[in-house]
Amino acid sequence: MATEKFTIQSFKSAKIEKRPISMLTAYDYATATLLDEAGVDTLLVGDSLGMVMLGYENTLRVTMDEMIHHTKAVARGTRRALLIADMPFLSYHVSVEDAIRNAGRFIQEGHAEGVKLEGGQDVIEKVRGIVKAQIPVLGHLGLTPQSLNVFGGFKVQGKDLEAARRLIDDALLLQDAGVFGIVLECVPDQLARVISEKLEIPTIGIGAGPHCDGQVLVIQDLLGTFRRMRPKFVKTYAEMGDSTVNAVKNYIEDVQQKRFPAKEHSFQMEPSLVEKL
Ligand code: KIV
Repeated sequence: MATEKFTIQSFKSAKIEKRPISMLTAYDYATATLLDEAGVDTLLVGDSLGMVMLGYENTLRVTMDEMIHHTKAVARGTRRALLIADMPFLSYHVSVEDAIRNAGRFIQEGHAEGVKLEGGQDVIEKVRGIVKAQIPVLGHLGLTPQSLNVFGGFKVQGKDLEAARRLIDDALLLQDAGVFGIVLECVPDQLARVISEKLEIPTIGIGAGPHCDGQVLVIQDLLGTFRRMRPKFVKTYAEMGDSTVNAVKNYIEDVQQKRFPAKEHSFQMEPSLVEKL
């Protein structure tokens, strides 16, 4: 397993060396330590935390302060992985200045090493501004959940020729603006392949097939702990939702049957002192 720190430069060299990049989301200290220990290349504090950690219906309600709070926690548990934080809805839409200031907060307060934001042409001035401020930017195209109300739901993007060409143009535009990689979410395999081949920077797929230069999953999906929805593109590597429910059922039963705590979980006093109580 690799132990060397994964950096923005490693991200770039991985593409040249054709070494697939692994990325996972993390939102808290304890999980970050485990994923980092396992050797994942990149940790993303995704705004998906609004759904999987905070119980919101979608990502639109997530605020800068919520993102910073979780980014700080993940940073404390991260050693080797590259740490990227997601810019939430409205944190980079209003002005270039606002976008730079908010991106800067992730670096200065959150201790992230880069930021991710959604969109192509529409946000290109903001991307240029943030990159110019020496903050590494990861792009995000395809199904960009902050545009959920425009798309009318979680739908695969780029399925017709015009939409596919627009995505290719956006990817090239983002590359020219200086992003160090692009997340492609829910686009057809063939389109992801074309985009990945056209770009010099890595693509990271989620629901974008096997031809991307890396893959990302939401950690709750990988572990089976978010049961509200399970998209088709998810591979669940452990059913920890089921094992958590079973473990808690066993605990409840042990408490009710007075099997827990046992002697080994308890503290003892000198018997002579007990006499005097
Ligand atoms: O917020 C998130 O978790 C993401 C990933 C799905 C890429 O943007």
